[in-house]
Amino acid sequence: MTPRTTRLSLDRLQSSDLDAMWRIHSDPRTNVHNPAGPLPDRKSAERRLDEWMKHWREHGFGYWSVRHDGRIIGFAGLRTSAWNGRSSLNLYYRFDPEAWGHGYAAEAATAAVDIWRSTLAKRPLIAYTKSANVGSQKTALAAGLERRPDLDQFTTDPEGADIVFALGWPRK
Ligand SMILES: CC(C)(COP(=O)(O)OP(=O)(O)OC[C@H]1O[C@@H](n2cnc3c(N)ncnc32)[C@H](O)[C@@H]1OP(=O)(O)O)[C@@H](O)C(=O)NCCC(=O)NCCS
Repeated sequence: MTPRTTRLSLDRLQSSDLDAMWRIHSDPRTNVHNPAGPLPDRKSAERRLDEWMKHWREHGFGYWSVRHDGRIIGFAGLRTSAWNGRSSLNLYYRFDPEAWGHGYAAEAATAAVDIWRSTLAKRPLIAYTKSANVGSQKTALAAGLERRPDLDQFTTDPEGADIVFALGWPRK
């Protein structure tokens, strides 16, 4: 489960990814629409990386470090989650701003969706984002997810509801 795309290597996370984890997740530009904000310190990046590596050990899949020309330009992949009380998989992507606008996020997200379709589709796939986060929404659509207003969740944070894109979630 560590595929290559045309331009990217998608690798199981390892502890040596910490510098990139910290660089990308502490950058205010990658967290403009994230109510939790950028990671505040390296220790919190280390904790998050540990948690994501544990997910790999427990489930055999997870988030990847995404490399282009050998350099980590982002993180993307699938993780177990729950939405509306139902077991599901979360599609994640967060990329270095220097790498935005080249279709890399869509390429990595599409690889994740392909894996979901071939081996993990027993559980629905979800991507959620704030309505102002147009880039995230376009990436979800580019990867083949469908807009599902019926699954949106109201939140009290200033950016408003989480709007949802999904695959494999039955329509009523
Ligand atoms: C969302 C994000 C991963 C997109 O990265 P990217 O590499 O620029 O995306 P891509 O180049 O693959 O673009 C995919 C599509 O989204 C569009 N897009 C990307 N950023 C956009 C933006 N800010 N506004 C409008 N459209 C945007 C692209 O034009 C492309 O559309 P197309 O398929 O019609 O050509 C990146 O902006 C990011 O890391 N944001 C911060 C983290 C984040 O918000 N993650 C989602 C959490 S919910």
